[in-house]
Amino acid sequence: MFFKKKQANATIDPNNIPAHIGIIMDGNGRWAAKRGLPRSAGHRAGAETLKRIVKYCNKIGVKSITAYAFSTENWNRPQKEVDALMELLYTYLQQVEEQFAGTNVILKVIGDRTPLSDKIKDAILYAEEYTKDNTGIVLNVALNYGGRAEIVEATKLAVANFKNGSVTEEDITEDYMSSLMYTKDVPEVDLIIRPSGELRLSNFLLWQAAYAEFWFDDINWPDFSEKDMERAILAYQKRNRRFGKV
Ligand code: IPE
Ligand code: IPE
Ligand code: MG
Repeated sequence: MFFKKKQANATIDPNNIPAHIGIIMDGNGRWAAKRGLPRSAGHRAGAETLKRIVKYCNKIGVKSITAYAFSTENWNRPQKEVDALMELLYTYLQQVEEQFAGTNVILKVIGDRTPLSDKIKDAILYAEEYTKDNTGIVLNVALNYGGRAEIVEATKLAVANFKNGSVTEEDITEDYMSSLMYTKDVPEVDLIIRPSGELRLSNFLLWQAAYAEFWFDDINWPDFSEKDMERAILAYQKRNRRFGKV
């Protein structure tokens, strides 16, 4: 009996908090459809969820979150949805003061910015500049991000550095390649969370996922609460991470 009670009240071990959590923010469209709302309403609700979850993670000592907001494949959605997503991202970044007031969050955008509009590019620079002296959690918003594209870009950088003589073939190690990824300044990804019931990575953090733990759940992202994050972290804390050892 005592054991059962203890399980029900399980609390997070503050000494084993995942340093870096990747989140595939999926299920916005299904959340909206269930309510008879347009998909864009789901994306708006999802953006609110991200703010809540980032604040909670900052409070419990998570160092970094990488949140998948728009994949390199999401351009293949209907133009109306792409436009709505871009407008939402723009608003989110542009209103960085209100969105993150008093949170101490360092906001960064990762992914290929080349095809983004000038308006969004400026909003990214503004949001990054505005939060750069904060000292709390680093929030990487993955925008036009693809794991394969990231590895290709890193490879091109390595080739350029090899050609200009700044690295030799022997210098091209796993650590060196990691230093060319978007996540070079944040800790290793310990935990990847995907809500909405899909069991795949969809091109998210392919390099970084090598030894990440996974947590999947059927809940749609807009419904994801602090309690769900707690459940994910509790599950993570029960894992035995062997890293190939015995
Ligand atoms: C995730 O929600 C957000 C983006 C991919 C931009 P979806 O829009 O994929 O929602 P579902 O999967 O259709 O429910
Ligand atoms: C992954 O979700 C991308 C984001 C959450 C931004 P998708 O909804 O695009 O993934 P698939 O198409 O189901 O694999
Ligand atoms: Mg989806």
